Amino acid sequence: MKAIVYTKYGPPEVLRLKEIPKPDPSDKEVLVKVHATTVTIGDCRMRSFSVPPEQRLFARLYLGIFRPRRPILGMELAGEIESVGKNVTRFKPGDLVFASTFEANFGGYAEYKCFPEYGLLAVKPANLSFGEAAASVGGVTAALRCLRRANIQPGQKILVYGASGAVGTNAVQLARNLFRAEVTGVCSSANMELVTSLGAGRVIDYTREDFGRQGKIYDVVFDAVARIPPAEARKALRPGGMYLNVHRDAHARRNTTTLQEFLELKELLEAGNTRPVIDRVYPFEQIVEAHRYVDQGHKKGNVVITVDAADVPPLRTSPGGTQRP
Ligand SMILES: NC(=O)c1ccc[n+]([C@@H]2O[C@H](COP(=O)([O-])OP(=O)(O)OC[C@H]3O[C@@H](n4cnc5c(N)ncnc54)[C@H](OP(=O)(O)O)[C@@H]3O)[C@@H](O)[C@H]2O)c1
Repeated sequence: MKAIVYTKYGPPEVLRLKEIPKPDPSDKEVLVKVHATTVTIGDCRMRSFSVPPEQRLFARLYLGIFRPRRPILGMELAGEIESVGKNVTRFKPGDLVFASTFEANFGGYAEYKCFPEYGLLAVKPANLSFGEAAASVGGVTAALRCLRRANIQPGQKILVYGASGAVGTNAVQLARNLFRAEVTGVCSSANMELVTSLGAGRVIDYTREDFGRQGKIYDVVFDAVARIPPAEARKALRPGGMYLNVHRDAHARRNTTTLQEFLELKELLEAGNTRPVIDRVYPFEQIVEAHRYVDQGHKKGNVVITVDAADVPPLRTSPGGTQRP
C-alpha cells in the first residue's frame, strides 16, 4: 500500500511517499481503507519536533529519541471497513467510519489502517463527506471538552480567542448551537466574515483591538490557540468567570471513556451542532505542500488530504470556502 512515511524530524520534505506492506487485521481488529485524512498543527509539530524546551525530554521519549518511533503521521481519518477479524462484531465490511488514531499510534497518512474493534472509531456521520468527517475529530473533541468544563448556561457570554482555527471554528459553533451562549470571536481581519458566519454575534479583530481593554464582561474566555497569557484573558472575565485554555483543558475527563465521547461526537455532528470548516483540500501526493501551508499557522479550520481521490465525494463549500491548491 502507499503511505507517507517520515524517518527523521525536519521540514515538510522529510515526508516521503512509499510502498509498504498492507496491514493484516488480527482476530480483534478491523482494517479501514482510508479515504481522507487531515494535516493538523499537531502533525506538523511531531514532524518537525517543534516542542518547547521544558517538554523536550518527555516528547523525545513519546515520539522517539533519535528518530520518529511512529513513522506514519495522521491523527484523524475517514474511510470504509475493508475487512474484520473473526471475533469482531461491532463492524462489518462496507461500513463507513471516521476515526481518531490518537490511541492507535497515528497512521492516517496511509491507504489502510488497522484499529482494535473498540478503538476510537464510529460510523461516519451521514451528513458529512469523508473529508468533512476526517476533519471533525480532533478540533471538535478539543472544543467540546473545554467548553463542557465551564458549565455554560444559555445566554451567557463567551469569548473565543483564535476563532478561525480548527478548535476555534468548532468552539464558536458549539458555544452558540449547543450551549446557546452569546459568542464573541477574536480573529484577524481576513477571518471576520467566516467567524460571523459560524454564529459569533460579535467579532474582534486582534490586529486592531485588544479585547482585554474593553472591561470585565465575559462569563467564559476560551483561548482556543493557547496564545494569550492567562492574566490577559482574566482582564475580560467578570468576577467568578472561567478561563479556558486548549492546551490545559482539552484532555479527557476521568469519568468518561474516550470511546463514549467518540460515539457522542457522531450524534452531535449529525444534529448539526457544528460542521467543519474546510480551508484547503490536497491530494495524497501533495502532502508536503499541505504541511508547508499548515506550518505557517494561519489555516482556517481544517486542511484535508484525499487519500483516494476517486472515492471521495466532492466537499461541500463550508463557510470561508473550499479551496483546492
Ligand atoms: N486541532 C486539534 O485536533 C487539536 C486538538 C487538541 C489540541 N489542539 C491544540 O490547540 C491549539 C489550536 O489548534 P488548532 O488546530 O485550532 O490550530 P490551527 O487551526 O492551526 O490554528 C490556526 C488559526 O490560529 C489563528 N491564529 C494564529 N495566531 C493567532 C493569534 N495570535 N491570535 C489569534 N488567532 C491566531 C490563525 O488565524 P490568523 O491567520 O488570523 O492569525 C489561524 O486561523 C494548538 O496548539 C493545538 O496543538 C488542537
